[in-house]
Amino acid sequence: MSWPPGGFSAAQRDLLDLMDARAWTFRATDRPGAEVNAPSAPVGESATQSRQAPPPAPAAQSAAQDRRIAPAPAGGSAAPSPPPAAGRPELEALKSAVAACTACPLHAGRRQTVFGVGNPNAEWMFVGEGPGEEEDRRGEPFVGRAGKLLDNMLRAMELDRTTVYIANIVKCRPPGNRNPSLEEAGACIPYLRRQIELIGPRLIVALGAVAAQRLLETEQPVGALRGQLHHAEALRCPVLVTYHPAYLLRSPGQKRKAWDDLQLAMREMEAMRQQRSPA
Ligand code: URA
Ligand code: SF4
Repeated sequence: MSWPPGGFSAAQRDLLDLMDARAWTFRATDRPGAEVNAPSAPVGESATQSRQAPPPAPAAQSAAQDRRIAPAPAGGSAAPSPPPAAGRPELEALKSAVAACTACPLHAGRRQTVFGVGNPNAEWMFVGEGPGEEEDRRGEPFVGRAGKLLDNMLRAMELDRTTVYIANIVKCRPPGNRNPSLEEAGACIPYLRRQIELIGPRLIVALGAVAAQRLLETEQPVGALRGQLHHAEALRCPVLVTYHPAYLLRSPGQKRKAWDDLQLAMREMEAMRQQRSPA
């Protein structure tokens, strides 16, 4: 229960200022609570080697005190890809069903399905739109450029890929990285709903318009949906909408708003923890 309910530590605030000034980019060795007066790092997301995952941050370990978060893998050094969906037979079975799925035309163009990755007991679930080229090649969501920014966003929240769960609306890559059609998303979303049911997150962060609109069954744009929690009957879990990291790469001026959204999400998460877990 070390999370400050109303705000952040001075060190974290400093880091956030730093991040904002640097357009959200900090080096792999920087992390909340670490050296705040870090020398200037090159600006630009490409400077971030987020696949060299940092050792588990003390802050992340404090989050792991929560009963629902498994401890980070021992050893400290980078586990580049946590075992996807490890530890939950139902999730594994669902993953196999997805791997064999031909329910929509996207199956024809995939190298492999991209089911999802992370902690099967995660409190946080992040949902994107669908695999891109790199994801299709590697079978893991958000491993391209946008994924590196997502890793930074997670780190700024004192989270990482081993403590959250990351998935997409569609599990197969749409050709040329176009948006999935309504039909494709409709065919695939039952898998995501089942993932949500099995994982039982406390909060879903919808990344970008496709995720937000398909989860909330609305046509409203992200700009209108962000900044508040949405309670979709069918999901049994509140949804916070923010910008997709790929959009933030194209429009870095919006990062501040995305960070506001993530801060709101953190406050809501803390409030839910306080409400639901007896001390
Ligand atoms: N964009 C997404 O929406 N999902 C991914 O997995 C990668 C990029
Ligand atoms: Fe099946 Fe989803 Fe792939 Fe379509 S995108 S083939 S519904 S797994």
